[in-house]
Amino acid sequence: MALLETNGLTVTFGGLHANDGIDISVERGRFVGLIGPNGAGKTTFIDAITGFVPISDGTVRFAGELFTTVAPHERARRGLSRTFQQLELFEDLTVEDNLLAAAETPTWTDVLLDIVRPGRVSPHQGDVEWALETVGLAESLKAFPSDLSHGQRKLVGVARALAARPQLVLLDEPAAGLDTTESQEIGGRLRGLLDHDVSVLLIDHDMGLVLNVCDEVYVLDFGGVIAHGTPAEIRTNPRVVAAYLGAEAEQSS
Ligand SMILES: Nc1ncnc2c1ncn2[C@@H]1O[C@H](COP(=O)(O)OP(=O)(O)OP(=O)(O)O)[C@@H](O)[C@H]1O
Ligand SMILES: [Mg+2]
Repeated sequence: MALLETNGLTVTFGGLHANDGIDISVERGRFVGLIGPNGAGKTTFIDAITGFVPISDGTVRFAGELFTTVAPHERARRGLSRTFQQLELFEDLTVEDNLLAAAETPTWTDVLLDIVRPGRVSPHQGDVEWALETVGLAESLKAFPSDLSHGQRKLVGVARALAARPQLVLLDEPAAGLDTTESQEIGGRLRGLLDHDVSVLLIDHDMGLVLNVCDEVYVLDFGGVIAHGTPAEIRTNPRVVAAYLGAEAEQSS
């Protein structure tokens, strides 16, 4: 059984089919890429499977459960986590507090525990430390976002998604704006997530990163899947080369 599976997933904005009958599956333990030109529908796909935009047709299944009508926070609680293309960090909070702010979903039990055991360690503290360690930022726990490089800030965004302890993390352009060295570094870190039982769906325009780090890649164009295969197959797929990659694929091979 696939960890994530969409069937005929369709999202419309007015007359525009931003996602048009998308069938994608991510098996547990896999690192899957999703690429396509600007406006192809990649972010919309993440928004749709995490419940941030309504779908007009099709289904989303996660770990065998039908997710289509499940609320976004409940999807996150069940192990589906995401980053946002536009990274927003709280500049006045430490890195640690940025992660705690995202991870904290107080329940009545938490509120009661706060009353009877004030000053107790947040139940998510260990997850926050694990998440920062996993992306290589353990040292930056008490730093402020302004102390960090652009690449490190992007990694805080990834760590924030990881602090929810997901089974699958959806990454929307985590390497945007990074130079080649930083991109390779982040690639290695992300690949390491598989060792922590976190499966990955990675969107990025950095072909070097995607083709090097993914086990398999889907290609979207005009809201539909035009190709699916290993990086080697994608690199040489004539439809992909024509639609999107062009000279870039040659360069990164
Ligand atoms: N909330 C919205 N309302 C109307 N149209 C939207 C909305 N969100 C996205 N779109 C449109 O849907 C299409 C797909 O957009 P989307 O952001 O998913 O593309 P993308 O593949 O993520 O592009 P990029 O690589 O630039 O991030 C585009 O034509 C976009 O203008
Ligand atoms: Mg996008």
